[in-house]
Amino acid sequence: TKVHLIAAARPNLMKVAPLWHALAAAEGFAPVLVHTGQHYDRNMSGAILEDLHLPAPDHHLGIGSGSHAEQTGGVMIAYEKVAVEHRPDWIVVVGDVNSTLACAIVGAKLHIPTVHLEAGLRSRDRTMPEEINRLATDVLCDVLWTPSPDGDANLLSEGIPADRITRVGNIMLDSFELVRPKIEAADMRGELGLPDGPYGVVTLHRPSNVDDPAKLEALAAALREVQQRLQLVFPVHPRTAARLAETGLREGLEAAGIRLIDPLPYVRFMGLVVGASAVVTDSGGVQEETTYLGIPCLTLRENTERPITIDEGTNRLATAATLVQRLDEALATPPAQRRRPDLWDGNAARRCVDDLRRRMAQSPLNDQA
Ligand code: UD1
Repeated sequence: TKVHLIAAARPNLMKVAPLWHALAAAEGFAPVLVHTGQHYDRNMSGAILEDLHLPAPDHHLGIGSGSHAEQTGGVMIAYEKVAVEHRPDWIVVVGDVNSTLACAIVGAKLHIPTVHLEAGLRSRDRTMPEEINRLATDVLCDVLWTPSPDGDANLLSEGIPADRITRVGNIMLDSFELVRPKIEAADMRGELGLPDGPYGVVTLHRPSNVDDPAKLEALAAALREVQQRLQLVFPVHPRTAARLAETGLREGLEAAGIRLIDPLPYVRFMGLVVGASAVVTDSGGVQEETTYLGIPCLTLRENTERPITIDEGTNRLATAATLVQRLDEALATPPAQRRRPDLWDGNAARRCVDDLRRRMAQSPLNDQA
């Protein structure tokens, strides 16, 4: 059974890797890695493949950057050729990036059974490109693998039949467990020459935060204020690096003592996070990883498609205006109030493989054979 696993942007690799390994180890499955090339810098892609023991992709579409239509259309055109020529039995798309939607459309139109891993998440904010990708992907896919009960509830309320939905848990945390020893051995304090004492980690890349110069300036001011009480380390996403350069805001952050560094591949980034006292982010995955690790997370967004990280985890929403106060509240919260969501346990990939087997055994095609 040939399974195409579609990877595109940095966080996709952490969702695809555990499934690739689980399929490779399972009798009768052949995982095929398709990289669309949406992210192409070494620290955004190649080094992460190595971190997660993934092979070089079987198919590399080399799409690169562009507008939403260019990226989505480019992936559709390139992936359709691959899917027609190599005809997978299943396609698995992950997350919510432009490549996720592009390949879901291709799979649906070629009548190839297509699965969405990390289905059902909703921010209910359609100004967010990822929300459009999530909505459209879920309506097209044959099977929806959700990470948490809110995902199931969202899909059911949109009229998706229950038999398409299987809750498998949070696969990103499988990646963490896969390489936990390497993460714990990474000496990021030493590597970065950080002084003793607590530190915080910052990541920012959403267009809604970094593309508007006034908003970015307000966030930079808030980070400089936080830096006065907590040493910050800020691995800078390429989009954000460009905006900080254009606006001249980078120098002020550095002058305040914030450590701006290049994006880190997975193991070293998580090595930095596990040692942090708090994380400030607008990433989706980091909200989940900090909940798993019990590390306070301040999410610089007006909403989140991952509400369970607030209800059960360590996440709090914040703005430039509230960041300092929210951080104080977070640092004062005793760890006992935090718990890990159900099925966030490092075994999601196994449940995915079990579900594929179950569905193949039930399929009418199989009954006829
Ligand atoms: C994309 C996803 C977002 C995800 C994020 C993770 C969409 C709509 N957005 O946003 O959901 O959270 O990835 O990082 O799919 N660039 C580089 N090198 C790279 C990759 C990008 O220099 O390896 C530059 C691009 O040229 C572009 C900018 O960074 O100027 C943004 O890249 P893009 O892939 O368009 O979107 P992201 O902001 O990374």
